[in-house]
Amino acid sequence: MFGKNFVWGAATASYQIEGGAYEDGKGLSIWDTYCQRSGKILAGDTGDVACDSYHRYKEDVAAMKEMGLKGYRFSISWPRIMPNGVGEVNQKGIEYYNNLINELIANGIEPYITLFHWDYPNELFYKGAWLNSESPKWFADYARVCAEAFGDRVKHFITFNEPQCFIGNGFNGGGHAPNLHYGPREVIRMAHHVMLAHGMAVNAMREVRDDIKIGYAPTGPYFYPENPENQADIDVAYEKTFETNDGGDWFGWTVAWWLDPILLGKYPEDGLKIYEKYLPTGWQDDLKIISTPIDFCGQNLYNAHAVRAGENGELQWVKRYVGFPHTGNMWPVTPEAIKWCALFTNRRYGNIPIYFTENGMAGSDVISLDGKVHDPNRIDFLHRYLKELSEAIDMGANVVGYFQWSLLDNLEWSNGYRDRFGLVYVDFPTGKRIIKDSGYWYKDVIATNGENL
Ligand code: BG6
Repeated sequence: MFGKNFVWGAATASYQIEGGAYEDGKGLSIWDTYCQRSGKILAGDTGDVACDSYHRYKEDVAAMKEMGLKGYRFSISWPRIMPNGVGEVNQKGIEYYNNLINELIANGIEPYITLFHWDYPNELFYKGAWLNSESPKWFADYARVCAEAFGDRVKHFITFNEPQCFIGNGFNGGGHAPNLHYGPREVIRMAHHVMLAHGMAVNAMREVRDDIKIGYAPTGPYFYPENPENQADIDVAYEKTFETNDGGDWFGWTVAWWLDPILLGKYPEDGLKIYEKYLPTGWQDDLKIISTPIDFCGQNLYNAHAVRAGENGELQWVKRYVGFPHTGNMWPVTPEAIKWCALFTNRRYGNIPIYFTENGMAGSDVISLDGKVHDPNRIDFLHRYLKELSEAIDMGANVVGYFQWSLLDNLEWSNGYRDRFGLVYVDFPTGKRIIKDSGYWYKDVIATNGENL
């Protein structure tokens, strides 16, 4: 059963929806410049206009209100606020987010700010981005500006969205901006700087205000037991979830490397055996700042893989059967993932409150002849995942909120506008918003606080 103050929300990210890429003094981000390079984004799409939320944010809020959302998680474009990443603050940028925040509050929707969802200031990229040992301070200064500007009305801040992705996909060859191909020596250093930036930002924001709650929104490869009644299956799934990946395509694609330092104040032992040699000098001293207490743990969760324990307790992969359900971008549909992610997070990190900061599915939704958008697959997807989430809470997981990815169909990074993730359909040629059937279904879930699931 969901708690009576459970936060039912939806999420977006600045570059994916705002547009207004060159307006009102905004600086360039690495996504602006990456999309300008030819052949990088499907169909040559860009976020120049996207959902045009820079101008249409009131329509977004109206749709949220219609669905009865309690919370809206959006991100701030760092270069819209600080065009060079450091120094001068762009008042027009502050004004845009103030207007959005005020509109949300006027409509009874609580704002949740993500400080960084990947649109890194281009000027700081020229200074080496996260490789530069000054980079944590740049981020902390920006966080302080945000807490000063918005902290009187916004009570929940998230430092980073999916560091695994913006470091892994961005700097270890995953087709995200700036799409560099660094090796572990550089990437492990960057990861350390990102976590130090998180800790310094938490301290900087707390200096500004003592009445805000701060969290972090990682993702990762999760695993769940084939047989949920079998403790040996549960234990191998747990161990696998927190194991440090020792190679392959992206060696930082792991949960513990990015969460243990923040929530436990130490790097995982198995990871240190492989990567300690790449950490910057003095890394041990940074752990105190990195592990500055936070108020909640976000989790971006889409799917996971099933495993079982063999006869001697060894891990075995469970092969997916032919025709296993998948979403429009070929991600498997594994509702159990959300339950075990929640239970495992609390098992390892104590009773910290968890928000699912993202969960949802890509579809190929269209406007039907009746002018509506029928998306039964998304309703089924959400229904299955939310039932599992409810079970996790009944089993003791401390989950306090859930944000659907996404409020709107948007620019899905290198896949351009092909995949539609929204509860609200966006007709990109006109900018018109249409709430999908799933949006109305979610409205009922919210109205009954999940009792109808
Ligand atoms: C998450 C991101 O990884 O997944 C979102 O935080 C993203 O920004 C979502 O849009 C869907 O992924 P993709 O790769 O299909 O855009």
